[in-house]
Amino acid sequence: MGVLLLPLLLGVLAILPILPRWGNCANPDDDKLLVLTVATEETDGLRRFQRSAHSFNYKVKVLGLGGQWLGEGQKVQLMKLALEPYADKEDLIILFTESYDVIFAAGPGELLKKFRQAKSKVVFSAESVAYPDRHLESKYPVVPEGKRFLGSGGFIGYAAYLYKMVADWDGTDKDSDQLFYTKLFLDPVKRGKVNITLDHRCRIFQNLYGSAEDVVLKFEHGRVRARNLVYDTLPVLIHGNGPTKLHLNYLGNYIPHVWTFESGCNVCDEGLRNLESLSVDTLPLVVIGIFIEQPTPFVSEFFKRLNNLNYPKNRIQLYISNHEPHHQRRVENFLQDHGTQYNFVKTVGPEENSDFADARNKGMDMCRQTPECEYYFSIDAPVVLKNPNVLRILIEQNKSVIAPLVSRNANLWSNFWGALSSDGYYARSEDYIDIVQRQRIGVWNVPYISSVYLVKGSILRSKLSQNDMFHSGTLDSDMVFCDNVRQQGIFMFVTNRQEFGHILSLENYKTTHLHNDLWEIFENTEDWKEKYIHPNYSEALKGKLVEMPCPDVYWFPLFTETTCNEIVEEMENFGKWSGGGNKDERLQGGYENVPTIDIHMNQIDYEKEWHKILLDFIAPLTQKMFPGYYTSAQFDLAFVVRYKPDEQPLLEPHHDASTFTINIALNSVGQDYEGGGCRFLRYNCSVRAPRKGWALMHPGRLTHYHEGLRVTKGTRYIAVSFVDP
Ligand SMILES: *[C@@H]1O[C@H](CO)[C@@H](O)[C@H](O)[C@H]1NC(C)=O
Ligand SMILES: *[C@@H]1O[C@H](CO)[C@@H](O)[C@H](O)[C@H]1NC(C)=O
Ligand SMILES: *[C@@H]1O[C@H](CO)[C@@H](O)[C@H](O)[C@H]1NC(C)=O
Ligand SMILES: *[C@@H]1O[C@H](CO)[C@@H](O)[C@H](O)[C@H]1NC(C)=O
Repeated sequence: MGVLLLPLLLGVLAILPILPRWGNCANPDDDKLLVLTVATEETDGLRRFQRSAHSFNYKVKVLGLGGQWLGEGQKVQLMKLALEPYADKEDLIILFTESYDVIFAAGPGELLKKFRQAKSKVVFSAESVAYPDRHLESKYPVVPEGKRFLGSGGFIGYAAYLYKMVADWDGTDKDSDQLFYTKLFLDPVKRGKVNITLDHRCRIFQNLYGSAEDVVLKFEHGRVRARNLVYDTLPVLIHGNGPTKLHLNYLGNYIPHVWTFESGCNVCDEGLRNLESLSVDTLPLVVIGIFIEQPTPFVSEFFKRLNNLNYPKNRIQLYISNHEPHHQRRVENFLQDHGTQYNFVKTVGPEENSDFADARNKGMDMCRQTPECEYYFSIDAPVVLKNPNVLRILIEQNKSVIAPLVSRNANLWSNFWGALSSDGYYARSEDYIDIVQRQRIGVWNVPYISSVYLVKGSILRSKLSQNDMFHSGTLDSDMVFCDNVRQQGIFMFVTNRQEFGHILSLENYKTTHLHNDLWEIFENTEDWKEKYIHPNYSEALKGKLVEMPCPDVYWFPLFTETTCNEIVEEMENFGKWSGGGNKDERLQGGYENVPTIDIHMNQIDYEKEWHKILLDFIAPLTQKMFPGYYTSAQFDLAFVVRYKPDEQPLLEPHHDASTFTINIALNSVGQDYEGGGCRFLRYNCSVRAPRKGWALMHPGRLTHYHEGLRVTKGTRYIAVSFVDP
């Protein structure tokens, strides 16, 4: 199916005022129509049906609610009972419809008009296959156009005639209602007596089974209709029978009502739970399940954000499942610093952690087994939740299962699927891209969510009380979870009403270094920048905060403290400092005039990354400070120098073999060392108190003859790059 009309109409929708609800006008036929449905359980599907009925002002009577579901035959029995009081009402029109997987797409006025136009006492919905007995197909009258077979999921008729139809019912609850009505219809005498026709062209009833592709959404004047493209009709009821249930969920995101795509949706403001009125100590208890299943960048930042969630820690219990020895220290550090502030903490480390699905079951079970637990919030380590209010926002939305939308910054990969393929894997829905990119905003009923989601504890203790939600053959545990949720008739939602964050790419993540996040500049650039680039760098780029301590020597914030610490630790961890006469072979070419105690970026395999740093963060400033000069930030030499009183305390005056030089202080004078600094001889000018994370940028070969001043105590580290040698 396609929603070709949509892009054209988006603009129109945006400027339309919010229209009054469709079909709300009082209708003289109102008291002549009654809607009957059978539902034993108040499911999400039934709620959706009632919402759509309510929005068009239908009067609905639900039969059998609270009772036990015994079988299809029960529906006929309940109908028979319900119709008895109306047995001789000639003018009352009754619509019978299924409800768990049905929505109204138009109001009673249109329904009655179409029914009257059919000029029969009873009209049944039509199907493209005969069910449950295909052998009966040949007995059906041939029709010139449309679906030929009877469907019992929806029919409409005069009360007296409907009663005639079901009065003879003597079947059991297990018998098929559809077969009962089919036989009645195929008996020419009975068919004539009750006066039944089928809605062959889906003017009233659209069964999606076998024709989901025929039905598209049509947006017009701020309204939405489902349109049958084959018969060119606008059905009044849409029935997602059989496997088309999910397609109905998709249609149901828009029908009965579309506001504008920028805000509002069928369920956006439905049954919101208000947390504002609760004091901090009475907020719902939440179990947060955290899953580290593979080497993941920025795990420290993950825990920082967890710590910064806008939710009281004494109302949070943590279940942390870490499969990666590499990350165990981070988990322990976090718990050391903050563990006691939480209501309760349970961790499962790499040694006890073998099966991912098991771990997820246990996390979920921690909420299930804690009577006070109102919500279970599951987060995978690659999820970057930037919105600290995420937990409150999701709780307030008051859905059984809801996920905040998170996607990969660089592409359209996200934590939901808009549709499923026939084998249960990903399929792209028409609106997938618009939802991911927040062109359409709302709370969306979707068949699959993953990575981060909130589940109500009450649901875990009722419909999802089975202890194994995540295992099944070879399927991913998240697919199994979603399948279980769908099977229970529970709707899963994803919300993009707010911005929540994104998902890290785990590709090419190595764990061979001490601080592997440093290498993530290509794969997770945004996160890398946030961790490593000085928050005031952007000011420097605007020309603010750039100082000129000596002529043509520019000084600006570049790295965070963390960057400096990690680079130094990485170098010390590598440990192969080259010194004095034992200079490395690369230096024989004579580029480096004065040897230093250093480790080169390429020795720790950081050349490519360093080049990107120079290109992305230094080159723009160079071009700003030295107008007319362009650099591709090529370098032959980039290294970290270590100065120590008893090793190499200073550097003799020299020229650099570069067009310009970058010199970044990696630690703090006064704190880590004494002395040090850089003196430019020609200008008799020194920078004596280099600031940690700040870069000095000065011309190389000609004018800026300089020396490294003596370090008198401690150890000083600087990162030096000779650019455009
Ligand atoms: C139903 O009744 C109308 C007249 O009221 C008649 O024209 C029509 O043929 C009947 N339909 C069937 C299927 O008997
Ligand atoms: C939240 O949802 C539940 C289940 O749908 C409903 O019973 C309850 O009334 C809702 N809460 C509020 C405050 O509307
Ligand atoms: C950024 O610059 C502002 C204004 O100069 C200063 O107050 C603030 O401390 C700086 N931030 C950092 C992290 O250095
Ligand atoms: C260099 O500057 C220092 C003070 O900053 C001053 O005492 C000294 O005389 C200057 N030397 C020359 C050669 O100008």
